[in-house]
Formats: sequence, structure tokens, C-alpha cells
Amino acid sequence: MASSGSRVVDIHTHMYPPAYVQLLESRQTIPLIRRFAGAKDPRYIILPAEAESLEKISQAGAAASTAQLPGRPVTSHYSSLQQKIHFMDTHKIDISVISLANPWLDFVAEAEAAETARSVNREFESMCLEHPGRLFFFATLPLSAPTEELLTAIDFVQELKHCRGVILGTSGLGKGLDDPRLIPVFKALAKNGLMIFLHPHYGLPSEVWGPRATEEYGHVLPLALGFPLETTIAVARMYLAGVFDEVPGLRMLLAHSGGTLPFLAGRIESCIVHDGHLVREGKAGPTRRTVWQVLKEQIYLDAVIYSEVGLKAAIDASGVDRLMFGTDHPFFPPLTSDEQGEWESMTWNKAAVDKALGEGSQGALAVMGGNAIEVLRLKEDA
Ligand code: URA
Ligand code: ZN
Repeated sequence: MASSGSRVVDIHTHMYPPAYVQLLESRQTIPLIRRFAGAKDPRYIILPAEAESLEKISQAGAAASTAQLPGRPVTSHYSSLQQKIHFMDTHKIDISVISLANPWLDFVAEAEAAETARSVNREFESMCLEHPGRLFFFATLPLSAPTEELLTAIDFVQELKHCRGVILGTSGLGKGLDDPRLIPVFKALAKNGLMIFLHPHYGLPSEVWGPRATEEYGHVLPLALGFPLETTIAVARMYLAGVFDEVPGLRMLLAHSGGTLPFLAGRIESCIVHDGHLVREGKAGPTRRTVWQVLKEQIYLDAVIYSEVGLKAAIDASGVDRLMFGTDHPFFPPLTSDEQGEWESMTWNKAAVDKALGEGSQGALAVMGGNAIEVLRLKEDA
């Protein structure tokens, strides 16, 4: 188990840097930033589930009240580095590994993707340089660019001093992460020692939430259930496609403690050994590396699960040396107390670690920061 003192590291913490904000401001379809008459702040409208509300409010026009506005207000928490440092200081976070928030560059046209990624990644590197020892980052890849440019982008970010991996959504090159065309990308990442931070964005088709969701249930279903299931499905598909065996050097950090993977790994295993097709194809034999093995050998999980119940499952599945604390800042701000004060994303996730492992225990110190310092080489700010 890692023993890097009692430093607190937040590995799941996002920024929308100013250039990216400008890009969203220039757009007419989601993801976008839009101003609404009578509302103080413009709104980030990024999730597929928010497109319907945007459509409704556009039709309602001036009659719509601010309470019905889609998305979330664009506050300084999303793009100000000073605000990020304030959040870290308020919550006694020593180091943050920042990443662009969803939907990254998934929507950028092929011809512009490589250059946009380059400038966003440069912006992240320069933010890290402003606060030596306190900031590192997961870079963004131009997934819509031609493969050659995508591979060049990996070489480029590998050279950036504070880059420790890449943040990736589940769509890959448009067909998901079990797409064989991604194998050279995974190999390049593995060769360069770059971790993939896998993060959801697309959720599940909106029909699964039923006709009452948009009006009555806010964002609870897509965020609480759609996001984790999206991650679970993406990794299960990679596993079934044999990606982890084909690229044994691949390392993935899964958002939200692996979605529901720790809870469902046993069921996935059972379905594999009872699947006639897989058995006939020789894909369920005794030499197969199980999902449990992959979880312990190639996967890391964040600790953004808000309860010791889920956290214990994650620890049981991957091992206490593979869990890393995070906050998901600037999402989920407190709604009934000062945004400049304490956030539940810190206090709930820290309480879960303390309850699961014992406050001040070796395991808790490892999850709160020691593991990230070792695994992501955060002592090396050089
Ligand atoms: N909502 C998002 O869109 N992204 C996050 O990371 C968390 C909540
Ligand atoms: Zn996040």
C-alpha cells in the first residue's frame, strides 16, 4: 500500500478553461453556452438530457421563468483557476489532477480537432505551471481527428511536464471503446505510460427515464444512474472484446468508482460462463483472465461514490491500493449554503473513506492521496 504521508489528492476535478468556454459560446446546438433574458449567469447546456428542456424553453420564449432554465449556471467555479485553488485550500486538498469536463472535444469537426486539443492541453499545462507542485492534469484527445493526428496528439501530451494521462468519454471514435480502430490508440497510451481516466457523458437513451422525468425528476436519473451505467457498459464491452488482453499495459481509472462494475462483476462472470456462444468460441475457458483479475491488474477506481457502502464494494473489487479520492468539482455545488464554503462532494466522499477504512488508517491515507501520488507520479513536478 502507498505510504506518501497524509497528503490529500483530488484526481476527479474538472475545468472548462476560457478558450473552451468561448468555443461553447459560439455554438447553436448542444454542447453550448447560452444567455437567457432575466437570468444573471449564462447557462452551460451540455447533457443530452438537457436538449429537451432547451427545446421547450426556446419555444416558451420570454414567458419561461428562470426556475425552468436548462443546464447549470456558468459560475467562476467552472473556468477560474483562482477559484479551483480556493476550493482546494478550503477543503485542504494538497494536489489536484485537473481535467477538461465533458463532453471534451467529442463534438469538434475533424479538421479543427487536433489544433483545438493542442491549445486546450497547452492551457492546462500552463495552469499547472502557475501552481508548482499543486496541479497536474489529464489531457484531452482529438478523437474526431484523423488517426495520424490523434496519435501525434498522444506524443504531444506525453511531452507536457504535468500531464499524467488522458480523460476519455465512452464514445471513442463514434462506435464505443470496443472498436478495433482504437487498439493503436490504447497501445500508444500504454507505451507512453498514460492512464486513461474514463468518464461518462452520454448516459442512457432518454426513453428509459419515462415521460415524467424531464418535468418532475430534474437530472437525478441521468446523473445518478445513466452516468454509472454508461461507464459499466463501456468497460464490459472492452472486456468482452478482449481489449485488456490485447493491451496488457493499458491502465484505466474509472469515474464514480467504476459505475456499477464492482457490484456487477460477479453477474458478468456468471453470464460469461453460461453463454453458449462464448463457450463454443473458447472465450470462457479456464485460461481466461476474469473481470475480477482485470479489476485488480489494469483498473483503478476513483472514490467519488458518496457512501461507504459503494466504496467498500469498490475496495473489495480492486483493492485498497487502487482507489483514489476525488470531488467532481465544480459539479454538484451546494445549493443551500455559500458556494465559497464547504461542499458535500468533499465531506461526503471523505466521510465514506473514513467509515469504510477508519479515519487516519493506512488505507484511508492511501485512498485520500497516497495512492494517487504513487500511481500518477505526483512527487515528480520536474
Ligand atoms: N455532470 C456532468 O456533466 N459532469 C460531471 O462530471 C458531473 C456532473
Ligand atoms: Zn466528473
